[in-house]
Amino acid sequence: MSRLRVAVVHGGRSGEHEISLRSARAVLDHLDPDRFEAVPLFIDKQGQWHPSPILPEPGANSGIDVIFPVLHGTFGEDGTIQGLFEMAGLPYVGAGVFSSSASMDKEHFKRLCAERGLPVIDYLVQHAAALDPGAAIARFGLPLFVKPANLGSSVGIAKAHDRDELAAALADAARYDTKVIVERAILGQELECAVLGNDRPAAATPCEILPSKEFYDYEDKYLLDKARTLIPPNLPEETIQEVRRLAVACFLAVECSGMGRVDFLIEKATGKVFINEINTIPGFTSISMYPKMWEHDGLSFAALVERLIELALERHALRQSLRYEL
Ligand SMILES: Nc1ncnc2c1ncn2[C@@H]1O[C@H](COP(=O)(O)OP(=O)(O)O)[C@@H](O)[C@H]1O
Ligand SMILES: [Mg+2]
Repeated sequence: MSRLRVAVVHGGRSGEHEISLRSARAVLDHLDPDRFEAVPLFIDKQGQWHPSPILPEPGANSGIDVIFPVLHGTFGEDGTIQGLFEMAGLPYVGAGVFSSSASMDKEHFKRLCAERGLPVIDYLVQHAAALDPGAAIARFGLPLFVKPANLGSSVGIAKAHDRDELAAALADAARYDTKVIVERAILGQELECAVLGNDRPAAATPCEILPSKEFYDYEDKYLLDKARTLIPPNLPEETIQEVRRLAVACFLAVECSGMGRVDFLIEKATGKVFINEINTIPGFTSISMYPKMWEHDGLSFAALVERLIELALERHALRQSLRYEL
């Protein structure tokens, strides 16, 4: 049987370019060479495509059976490149165009969840041309979280403790997006929950993140190496089950496919569980939590990668059978 040619697309134009290289390295390392032929495709920071420098396979066939986009953030996780794969008629791992872009936009993500009655954190939207710290404080008090609506890796995100910090945070977030989200700060624990599947997805045992800073910011995620993780989280079993149930419901609410990592905040004072966001292309490095959570539940990194490819092929086959005209 001939091997399936898997294009592992990595790099990209986003601020998460370097993380993507680390994720792609790990995915390539776990592709079973007996079953898959890896075709690494590298997108540089200017958006130019190249055969990858990280795993040149001389003489590799350029035909591709399935694409594994290992790109985080803008132009990778936001539906844009998924649109390209749709146009090319190729199966690809992970969420489709709509789900990718709806999950990337923190406003539309919350709306889709709220519409199903899922608990999202109270928020308001401000546009770059009409930033109004007073209105945000009047609505939620302090402290507040400020975020560009479409980004990731905590870039442009700040916790504002007073009015001056809020004004500065709003102005900074507006450098990254014309739409800014202001949220009530949730004091408590932070969790991540891995979801895998298409129409009948399953959630893994969640993981608790113990940031080394006041919150899980860019430095804490990628530079300090001081944040700790805990599987299972330090929470009662019923809260853990609630998180898993909500993770699956969230995945379905945004019509995700393949994989998704749903992130939560658990309020200390009330015990209430809040969905913070979904990541449709979660980190895949050797220390990333998405594969770690599945490993904890008995699914190896290699088996996970294989399952994701199968799910991509299943989804593609199902959509191939659809008609587009009478
Ligand atoms: N409303 C909030 N209350 C408390 N902490 C928050 C809140 N929103 C975000 N955070 C903290 O900021 C981090 C980044 O925010 P997040 O919404 O996940 O953005 P990104 O998409 O960049 O990962 C979270 O991991 C968490 O530590
Ligand atoms: Mg996050």
